[in-house]
Amino acid sequence: MSALLPTLNLVGAGRVGKTLGRLWQQAGVLQIQDVLTTSAASAQAAVDFIGAGHAIASPAQMRPASLWLLAVPDRQIAASAQTLATLGLPPALAFHASGALAATELAPLRAQGWSCASAHCILSFADPATAQQQFRGTVCALEGDAAAAQRLEPLLTALGAQCFALATEHKLIYHAAAVWATNFLPVLQAQAEALWRHSGLPAELLPGLRERLLHHAVDNLLALGPAGALTGPAARGDTALVERQGQAVQAFDADAGAAYAALSAMAARLARDRQL
Ligand SMILES: NC(=O)c1ccc[n+]([C@@H]2O[C@H](COP(=O)([O-])OP(=O)(O)OC[C@H]3O[C@@H](n4cnc5c(N)ncnc54)[C@H](OP(=O)(O)O)[C@@H]3O)[C@@H](O)[C@H]2O)c1
Repeated sequence: MSALLPTLNLVGAGRVGKTLGRLWQQAGVLQIQDVLTTSAASAQAAVDFIGAGHAIASPAQMRPASLWLLAVPDRQIAASAQTLATLGLPPALAFHASGALAATELAPLRAQGWSCASAHCILSFADPATAQQQFRGTVCALEGDAAAAQRLEPLLTALGAQCFALATEHKLIYHAAAVWATNFLPVLQAQAEALWRHSGLPAELLPGLRERLLHHAVDNLLALGPAGALTGPAARGDTALVERQGQAVQAFDADAGAAYAALSAMAARLARDRQL
């Protein structure tokens, strides 16, 4: 790896840190330098996965770098920024990967003249090896200091990302949308399967049923869009059936009953909107 490349230090190298670290290493646009996690063993495992970098055991051992990615869990970002700020490092570019939190989490570094941003990639980084394969084409929201966002954009674009500028005040609602689009899908599927099992549907039929319905739902959504793909009693305006089904679900599970009522109201609204 050329010594002329900008250096990247990783504070936190789990699913996101490992994935981005390896992608940047493979793309040859950044030199992965020091990697800090909660243990020497996990830092070394991250270095092994990335294929570059040095596992570091404590923040004080981290060397100055051009860029710092704080890929720790959201609740650790502010504390990690505070720790870095106590080290007297030369100001650089610091960014985190949270969708919901803003670059203001990095305020202690910002106060020392660092350039700060958040870069959130809309992808489920469930497994780094898989996420690495899926990354190309991922939409990434850049927020924070304009200069930092400007510097990060070509680095992410080099990995195949599609970047856009996100206003700080919209981060929460933006991330809530990602929760709707990705996180709730497994919840809906788990709930459907619990109800089917409860109804007596044989367990051995569930995997095939899941596969068929999800494939067909995706095909229809891609072909017709959300409004066009919508079917079901709420979309048909069958309010009596929606009511009776809602009560049955409510009796099974109170949270599921509340969600059924709310989602049915939203389905009816979506069906009405498509007729306008
Ligand atoms: N996962 C996703 O799908 C996804 C998608 C977009 C954005 N994000 C964002 O990406 C960020 C990281 O998420 P993740 O899913 O990669 O988390 P993760 O897999 O749980 O990894 C967190 C990493 O941070 C390390 N860590 C925890 N506390 C630390 C501390 N005080 N100092 C140093 N390292 C510490 C952990 O060390 P160990 O390895 O020793 O446990 C681990 O390497 C979060 O802001 C999250 O919101 C996640």
